[in-house]
Amino acid sequence: MALAFNMAWKTTIPAYPQVQRIAWLYLKMSDSIWYVNIRLATNEDRDDIQRVHMRAFPEGENALVSKLAIELLSETTTPQTISLVAEAGGVVVGHVAFSPVKIDNDERFQGCILAPLGINPDYQRAGIGSMLVEYGMQKMSGMGVDMVFVYGDPEYYSRFGFSADAACQYATPYKLQYPFGWQAIALNEADVEGSSAVITCVNSLCDPELW
Ligand SMILES: CC(C)(COP(=O)(O)OP(=O)(O)OC[C@H]1O[C@@H](n2cnc3c(N)ncnc32)[C@H](O)[C@@H]1OP(=O)(O)O)[C@@H](O)C(=O)NCCC(=O)NCCS
Repeated sequence: MALAFNMAWKTTIPAYPQVQRIAWLYLKMSDSIWYVNIRLATNEDRDDIQRVHMRAFPEGENALVSKLAIELLSETTTPQTISLVAEAGGVVVGHVAFSPVKIDNDERFQGCILAPLGINPDYQRAGIGSMLVEYGMQKMSGMGVDMVFVYGDPEYYSRFGFSADAACQYATPYKLQYPFGWQAIALNEADVEGSSAVITCVNSLCDPELW
């Protein structure tokens, strides 16, 4: 499908989570024009989020990822677990979540993990995945997060600055099936150098099958 898009970000992003409309993308796809809106997800988005991941991920993975996405909506963590949805023409077409991680040897360390990320295949390659990642990282930075981790395809995540080097001193809670997919990006200037550490995740991510 031929795509052309014209992205226009609102430069000022409301500081308060209750203000739902936080960014938009003016996107032209064939003859349709969608206004893409990114907002915080609520429990009412459960079915839509599940549908997105069931379609985005291949069979065999999709049920597990959808379950993770739904469970993350109910995490009551400090700092907060953030779920964002992208709506195109009022329909939820993408979702991403950022949940906090801790490390065993530094109580001041503020980290989070980006997972999962999925876009409805009918809306892929139009910049929506990038919008969700970039907006989410801006939000994490504003919340004082030092590092964002991700376990995914380096070809995709390197475009945002994620690298395996930044993650190499942080051990995952479970053995990784694809170690090259473990990446991180430092968001703030905080000193995140130090000895190697093991990260601890929220309950929803404590499933070895996800790693
Ligand atoms: C990966 C995904 C989130 C990207 O969303 P998207 O809205 O299509 O992404 P964007 O439009 O912002 O970026 C598209 C670009 O990413 C590239 N891309 C998409 N998936 C990629 C992948 N797995 N590896 C490398 N590049 C990828 C596309 O080729 C395209 O490149 P181009 O801009 O040079 O043409 C989406 O393809 C998806 O949901 N995939 C299935 C689920 C998944 O793999 N999630 C991530 C798991 S960690």
